[in-house]
Amino acid sequence: MGETLAGAALIDGKAFAETLRARVGAAAGAFAQATGRKPGLAVVLVGEDPASQVYVGAKGKACAAAGMASFEHRLPADTSEAALLSLVERLNQDEAVDGILVQLPLPAHLDEQAIIAAIHPDKDVDGFHVINAGRLAVGQEGFVPCTPLGCIMLLKDRLGDLSGLEAVVIGRSNIVGKPMAQLLTDANATVTIAHSRTKNLPEVVRRADIVVAAVGRPEMVKADWIKPGATVIDVGINRLPPEEGKPRGRLVGDVAFAEVAGVAGAITPVPGGVGPMTIAVLLRNTLVAAHTHAGLPAPEGL
Ligand code: GUN
Repeated sequence: MGETLAGAALIDGKAFAETLRARVGAAAGAFAQATGRKPGLAVVLVGEDPASQVYVGAKGKACAAAGMASFEHRLPADTSEAALLSLVERLNQDEAVDGILVQLPLPAHLDEQAIIAAIHPDKDVDGFHVINAGRLAVGQEGFVPCTPLGCIMLLKDRLGDLSGLEAVVIGRSNIVGKPMAQLLTDANATVTIAHSRTKNLPEVVRRADIVVAAVGRPEMVKADWIKPGATVIDVGINRLPPEEGKPRGRLVGDVAFAEVAGVAGAITPVPGGVGPMTIAVLLRNTLVAAHTHAGLPAPEGL
């Protein structure tokens, strides 16, 4: 962190994630010493969605690099719900598996909620199970979804105490927007969740000391929406249509980075901001799951 743009400091999620991964790796080594086995993550991918294949490959590699066991299950797109449920049940019972992640989105014929509900809550390292969503809502220990947990780590690292700050979360998904708002509330920020029906969105966002954009609309948040000096966290990963002569379009966030960087106090880039945090936190959650599973106290400082 600290590199200056036209005013805004760059929040280097990639560097933060590397540090977190190194700490998780050290703790995974200590876990293996103590228990005689590595922390284990099972990743289930149904179908051939290209983006999901990239994510699943990256998760496997990150596990190996952190000294964790990775169990990949790649199933055909026409896998039945019964077959997927039976795999999840097998992974729930498997003593070598501490965390289970079923990559979303699933093919349309599969009921995502039913599959997530079948994962044992103590192996739900994605934090998507209603038990974990409920634990977060009432302030109990549980798994928190990786992307918002990564965002709150970056915010606390940048700003320290968030007490009394105005935060606006744009997007109300179960995976990012809602848990993000809860984490900010727990950190004593004053939180607004904005969404597609919000009136005068630019005006609402201009109140914010902290803006978290998680809508999936390329470069939607403009410079004149931002209070000077605000901290801007961009969760979006959007691919623009290719420019002429280029095979692939540019990757951009939900924030118009170049112009917002001229107004904000600090901002995450895309790529290299929130994205790398998601996998680092997944490893962290898997490590915590392994400790719980082995009856060991949770590792400190992660
Ligand atoms: N698809 C996109 N992001 C995620 C994630 O964090 N977890 C899972 N399971 N699927 C995803």
